[in-house]
Amino acid sequence: MKVKVDDLEFEKMISFEAIEKRTAELGAILTEQYQDSLPVFLGVLNGCFVFMADLVKQVPVPCQIAFMKLSSYRGGLESTREIIEELDLKIDIAGRDVILVEDIVDTGNTLRYLVDKLRALKPKSIKVCALLYKPDAMEHEIPEMQYIGFEIENKFVVGYGLDYKEQGRNLKDIYQLVK
Ligand code: IMP
Repeated sequence: MKVKVDDLEFEKMISFEAIEKRTAELGAILTEQYQDSLPVFLGVLNGCFVFMADLVKQVPVPCQIAFMKLSSYRGGLESTREIIEELDLKIDIAGRDVILVEDIVDTGNTLRYLVDKLRALKPKSIKVCALLYKPDAMEHEIPEMQYIGFEIENKFVVGYGLDYKEQGRNLKDIYQLVK
């Protein structure tokens, strides 16, 4: 099935059912790892909002949820090097187990920036849970990246929270650009 988002055409890549199944698997692992530590799920907006909502429902342990907002894309297809911080972290993560929730890791620039910034706040641990990962685009070694939903080709994707020109976030499945 194909969809049009603004001026581009996309085709279905990962169904909601597959996302749901993988999210439950990740949730089970996190549930076991974070039983007694009152972890902080820290979401990176805007893209994480759908995944975060589905993920935390699969982790029935006491936890806190917080968000930060950064942007490295400016609504198009290309990543920019500059990272803009639009909404800062409001909770104290010193001594806490932090699970950083990302929609997608592309070049890893955003994640590198974020992990360095969070480390300076002295959490007990930082682990990254990313729904999508493009290994061929990755430019950094980030050992904190421990929980990955799907490794995908280096293609632009939309849906399930991910956007093209701020559109397409509400698509239930994930779609890739048709070339
Ligand atoms: P990175 O800094 O290059 O890893 O890019 C991270 C951010 O870029 C993600 O959190 C997304 O917001 C955005 N991004 C990267 N790849 C895609 C894509 O294929 N579709 C939509 N947004 C993307």
